[in-house]
Amino acid sequence: MEKYVINGGNKLYGGVKIQSAKNSVLPILAAAVLTDGTITILDVPQITDVSNMVKILTRLGCKAVFSGDNLIIDSSSANCFEIPSGLAHELRSSVFLLGSLVSRFKMAKIAFPGGCDIGLRPVDLHLTGLKRLGVEITEESGYILCKCEKLMGNEIMLDCPSVGATENIMLAAVKAEGTTVIKNAAREPEIEDLQKFLNMIGAKVRGAGSGTVVIEGVRSLGGATFKPIHDRIEAGTFLVATAMCGGEVELECSCAENLSSLLHKLRENGCIIRIKNDKISLESSRRLTSVKTIETQPYPGFPTDLQAQITALCCICRGQSIITENLFETRFKYVPELRKMGADITVINRSAFVRGVDKFKGATVVAHDLRGGAALVLASLAAEGVSEVLDISHIDRGYGRFEQKLGSLGGDIKRVAV
Ligand code: UD1
Repeated sequence: MEKYVINGGNKLYGGVKIQSAKNSVLPILAAAVLTDGTITILDVPQITDVSNMVKILTRLGCKAVFSGDNLIIDSSSANCFEIPSGLAHELRSSVFLLGSLVSRFKMAKIAFPGGCDIGLRPVDLHLTGLKRLGVEITEESGYILCKCEKLMGNEIMLDCPSVGATENIMLAAVKAEGTTVIKNAAREPEIEDLQKFLNMIGAKVRGAGSGTVVIEGVRSLGGATFKPIHDRIEAGTFLVATAMCGGEVELECSCAENLSSLLHKLRENGCIIRIKNDKISLESSRRLTSVKTIETQPYPGFPTDLQAQITALCCICRGQSIITENLFETRFKYVPELRKMGADITVINRSAFVRGVDKFKGATVVAHDLRGGAALVLASLAAEGVSEVLDISHIDRGYGRFEQKLGSLGGDIKRVAV
């Protein structure tokens, strides 16, 4: 067990190189099972969601080795279609492997997935989609069992634009017979990235980024070297950190377009933001004014993965804000922790009502999930005095070299064994 010890109050200055998007890399790793060709993924983030996915791939018989930050995967030796509960519980994205495994082996057996405890997170849309492609699904003692004679393209209408379900169905459909059309598909940029990767290895996918994705089945796939898009959520987290602490950062990333909902809110707060040549810079030189309302929505709306961070910012702005979480029902677990630091927040149903206070005060707080944990780190960096953030394994799931990056900007943050 490890914790962060953070001595707050320093302004943040300098540059940060943004990692590849966790939410691109994970489905691409699942896609690797579809092909016998060699896949090289460049600039893979050093996060535990990735190392757990690599463990799962290895368990399935794939060879996955790191060469520096690049990951080379050879799935030609894959010989297993089962993901046991220990591994599946570590990582929700293991559910993406259903589509790939059933495509490759015509069988898949996966324990119900884990991941952040941020609500019910059902997988019904994944399963309904796979059924439409001809997969027979049964559930027994905590496992999902999938079987099919062959996968057949079909039209699938999602009840809501689920990112994971869209990706899982894309993976299952790539080598299905005929054409699959996913309607009401999620439009996240990471889905476009998955399409780009799949087409690079020989698939025929179009429409990702719009509400309709069309996949024409192909017989075989090859290898590729692929560089995923930048992590817009990591970038957003560093921008909010600087807005809260004051200072000026320049992010090396080409994801400004994908972050426009956050950038819009930060400008409304009073931050100065400049975008040029694959760089985003933010300057924050005075106490910010709160934005009145923020609602999380599927892309291109405000991302749920930045909800906790922006709420932490609102806590120390001048004025009141209402932040509404529309995607995951229990994504306010960090609120009692922020209260320990002096925040004035009340949660009623899906909304947090925030009245801005002058400053956070240092306290000992507990991370309950990935993004909530990041919000606590930001609050601690901006606070007066020393804070401890416990259970940082949640944060390690999605932020690579977090304390090194924050430290290089001037944040006083140390990882300490408990
Ligand atoms: C992905 C992201 C996660 C992000 C989320 C929303 C990855 C690895 N994770 O998660 O970081 O927070 O998108 O942007 O990409 N739903 C159902 N039934 C289903 C599936 C989803 O009802 O079968 C509902 C969920 O409860 C939720 C909404 O759909 O309310 C969106 O979830 P979804 O887009 O599927 O999120 P994930 O793919 O799990």
